[in-house]
Amino acid sequence: MARVFLVGAGPGDPELLTLKAARLLRDADVVLHDSLVGPAILELVPPAAEIIDVGKRCGKASTAQADICRLLVEAALTRKKVIRLKGGDPSIFGRLTEEIEALRQAHIEFEIIPGITAASAAAATLQASLTQRHVARTLHIITGHGAEQGLPAHNWAALAQAGGTLAVYMGSKYLPWLVKKLLAEGMSSETPAVSIEWASRPEQRIIHASLARMPEALMQAAPSGPVLLLIGLAFRDS
Ligand SMILES: C[S@@+](CC[C@H](N)C(=O)[O-])C[C@H]1O[C@@H](n2cnc3c(N)ncnc32)[C@H](O)[C@@H]1O
Repeated sequence: MARVFLVGAGPGDPELLTLKAARLLRDADVVLHDSLVGPAILELVPPAAEIIDVGKRCGKASTAQADICRLLVEAALTRKKVIRLKGGDPSIFGRLTEEIEALRQAHIEFEIIPGITAASAAAATLQASLTQRHVARTLHIITGHGAEQGLPAHNWAALAQAGGTLAVYMGSKYLPWLVKKLLAEGMSSETPAVSIEWASRPEQRIIHASLARMPEALMQAAPSGPVLLLIGLAFRDS
């Protein structure tokens, strides 16, 4: 019976892989991976295995989701040990649902192996907690990039007034507009904000600024890697 493993690769540091993910990678025949999965993790894959980069990075050529689903099903039907390796946790902004549907339609069994998401890795780097008693009783994980161009249509008023932590994925491109929305909906301009590029990897970079100043600070830093933005009072001492 064909079986696929949809595996979270964590934020980049190979030591942040789960034991199960590492074991599956060492035993793989085919690995289809995202662009955020770095060489240090792919080194675990046996040399004889086929490694297929189906990565997507903003503005660069990428494999269409339909083609990824097709490749996944084709690989599974060969009855080889197939790993679909996704950065962070596969269920957070990982287009996991499309791949689950493709596998179900093809009657292929699958297992999902969770991974450490970027927000957890970023908070750990800052020696901070994503939630905090009295200060951050909620954690909203949001994307700063809509399916089409521009900011997504979140309930910005609710997010601004929740008074907890905001973890913004894919937030760099439209950050000035995102900040404007939050400020317009009543969030304080002095709310602490931190951007973490390549959390957990050797090239990690951290920028602290107030919410109002973060777009300018990030523009000056000109990050080329993935950036996670944390906003909220939980980061006032980090
Ligand atoms: C398509 S989403 C995938 C998220 C992933 N599934 C996760 O759970 O972390 C890609 C975005 O995640 C964030 N991200 C992923 N890995 C990161 C890292 N090591 N450092 C900072 N941000 C990261 C960035 O915001 C990036 O643009």
